[in-house]
Amino acid sequence: MRHLLEIDDLSPDELHSVLAYSQQERPEPVLTGRGVALVFEKPSARTRNSAEMAVVQLGGHPVYIQGGELGFDTRESVEDITRTLAGYYDFVGARVFDHATLERMEKLQVIPIVNLLSDKAHPMQALADLLTIQQELGDLSGRTLAFVGDANNVWRSLALAAAMAGMKTRLATPDGYGPPAADIDRIKALGAEPLVTQSPVEAVAGADVVYTDVWASMGQEGEFDKRKAAFAEYSVTADLMEQANPGAIFMHCLPAHRGEEVVGEVVDGPQSRIWPQAENRMHTTRGLLAWLWEQQ
Ligand code: CP
Ligand code: NVA
Repeated sequence: MRHLLEIDDLSPDELHSVLAYSQQERPEPVLTGRGVALVFEKPSARTRNSAEMAVVQLGGHPVYIQGGELGFDTRESVEDITRTLAGYYDFVGARVFDHATLERMEKLQVIPIVNLLSDKAHPMQALADLLTIQQELGDLSGRTLAFVGDANNVWRSLALAAAMAGMKTRLATPDGYGPPAADIDRIKALGAEPLVTQSPVEAVAGADVVYTDVWASMGQEGEFDKRKAAFAEYSVTADLMEQANPGAIFMHCLPAHRGEEVVGEVVDGPQSRIWPQAENRMHTTRGLLAWLWEQQ
């Protein structure tokens, strides 16, 4: 049984297959008469709506469930909830605070589990990001991706995905917020030589894609003041974009905080690709589910 907890659960070839499936204009309605449970412990605009519509486009029925209603490990154990859902549905997509919740679901091997964002990873975002870069810039191989900001869930999945696609990855992040060595080793194992620097200019110089995300992720709201001070020099400004390649694009998984990790002039400017990127969340979720269906 195949699951998607992190993007490197796919091989590089499988990743390319999923991107190809995502571009099918008229996919087979493989989920006709079937259901997909979409469980959210945290809020969402893109992930919930894109996943619901992806399931509809495959002929299936999405059911949105708030995490609090299920009560993971409060009302009932994660294991009992997962076994129950497996009796009704063909996939469980889940957005959770603790990545270990997904690992416990996966371990049961009773239903394919898709990570819709955890504290550690956001692989469904990375799929949409790669598709967007491919549509905007053509071949991914050899392109340079610069991520400016927090080495968070979005960065981790994106850096792994980029390495799998043969891209060069760079990260600019302040002292104390860099990724653990294990992340770097995992990226290197995929054949990339990631650059990690405290200098946004060094990371962005000559890059094809400049990417950022919020300074405090969901669940880190209490650290916001401390993080805002630490990341103050890591805002993507028009001056910083000037350092990138001519023709470089700006990306953000959204929600964006204008005036913090990116200025309005960039996120709403001509280099920004945030809207095709957001739309691609639906196409890549549809592609992933169609591909995953074939693997079961
Ligand atoms: N990018 C993303 O996952 O957005 P939502 O939190 O709105 O789903
Ligand atoms: N890093 C952000 C991404 C939101 C889509 C978070 O986890 O809140």
